[in-house]
Amino acid sequence: MRVLDLIIKKRDGGNLTAEEIGFLISEFDRGNIPDYQMSALLMAIYFQGLNARETTALTAALAESGEMLDFSSLGAIVADKHSSGGVGDKITLVLAPLVAAAGVPVAKISGRGLGFTGGTIDKLESIPGFSARLSVEKFMELVQENSLAIMVQTERLTPADGKLYALRNVTGTVENISLIAASIMSKKIAAGANAILLDVKMGRGAFIQNRDEAFHLAETMVRIGKEMGRRIVSVVTDMNQPLGFAVGNALEIKEVMNVLRGQGPPDVERLSVLLGGYLLALVGKVRNPEEGQEELLRLLKNGAGLEKFKQMVISQGGDAQCLEDLSLLPQAKFVETIKAPKSGYLREIDARKVGKVAAILGAGRSFKGEKIDFSVGIVLNHKVGNIVAEGDTLAYIHGNNEDTLKAAFKELSGTFSIGEEKAEGFPLIYGVVPPFPS
Ligand code: URA
Repeated sequence: MRVLDLIIKKRDGGNLTAEEIGFLISEFDRGNIPDYQMSALLMAIYFQGLNARETTALTAALAESGEMLDFSSLGAIVADKHSSGGVGDKITLVLAPLVAAAGVPVAKISGRGLGFTGGTIDKLESIPGFSARLSVEKFMELVQENSLAIMVQTERLTPADGKLYALRNVTGTVENISLIAASIMSKKIAAGANAILLDVKMGRGAFIQNRDEAFHLAETMVRIGKEMGRRIVSVVTDMNQPLGFAVGNALEIKEVMNVLRGQGPPDVERLSVLLGGYLLALVGKVRNPEEGQEELLRLLKNGAGLEKFKQMVISQGGDAQCLEDLSLLPQAKFVETIKAPKSGYLREIDARKVGKVAAILGAGRSFKGEKIDFSVGIVLNHKVGNIVAEGDTLAYIHGNNEDTLKAAFKELSGTFSIGEEKAEGFPLIYGVVPPFPS
């Protein structure tokens, strides 16, 4: 097989066989295909696309490039949940302990935040002592013992995806549904769970803003998952305004604790319970998502979810004191407020801008590996649809540096749109793929 022939085949609109795709990925992973040839192939794929068979073959080749976890010795269905990324998206941290408390083991491998979106691992690492750098063996042991563990993606899993994604990032070839679906699903398949819930975010604060594309991605990933023998459901959810009120790592952990104590923002509680209900129905723990939602709400109200979250944090080295006394979590030195310039209905809070402002403050990264400040971020005081009076506080900005605080204040001031006409707000969920029950 010659790489050049395969590039030309795809460039001219041909279909690659599973064998050819397997060859390309394993040779690229071994360093035997130079970046310039792989870049040409990626651009050919970007324009010509991959059919369903090619996309599944690419997923399998990426997954098989590293270790494949296997939880079959647990004798139970293991669940995983993935979000395509958003602003203030702390749903995993509420949903995972609730689902684990319902008796379904959750094994979650997460990434760090990049750009305007936050990452679950960064949020957890804002708890002093918490470690997400687990060995695969320790991860599996904790899933067995506690029914819940969250670890950071390592090079032992899907190494070829890491290399391919880095190349896509610098060659303008990220935004292709087949490539995105294969990349995400390869990590889900390698991570070993047999029931997968995918949260595809759509809106201003998500990578996908278009409804057709969001559903196309959801459908593509569900098809791949089913072909690879997984139970899978994908939910397209709103990301036009931030989820909850807090955006920023330690600030979001405080909000998660409040939700698990039954005192959190209704949108975070509701979406966590709705998505978790689908997961419980998917693994067959309940007869339908509604029954799952009832059960999760019960476990939220009786504190079982909170206890499970604490158990996970302590098992992974986190300081339990900080969860009892949230003022012990990292705190910023300064807090600035944004006031409403006029009275009216709050019509828009641009989630993307809020995410960018959080990154300016130091809560996010502009390049891989950048050090972040766990204490900074934004706490909103209102949601879209609320009525505000002139002078009301719209948001609190938490910062440690006067210059970045000033820049954040300037940027954030233009983020809120207030008008005389009532704004309806956004639905939490746009659709479920496949429609439930299937
Ligand atoms: N997230 C991934 O893991 N891969 C992509 O290609 C895009 C988003």
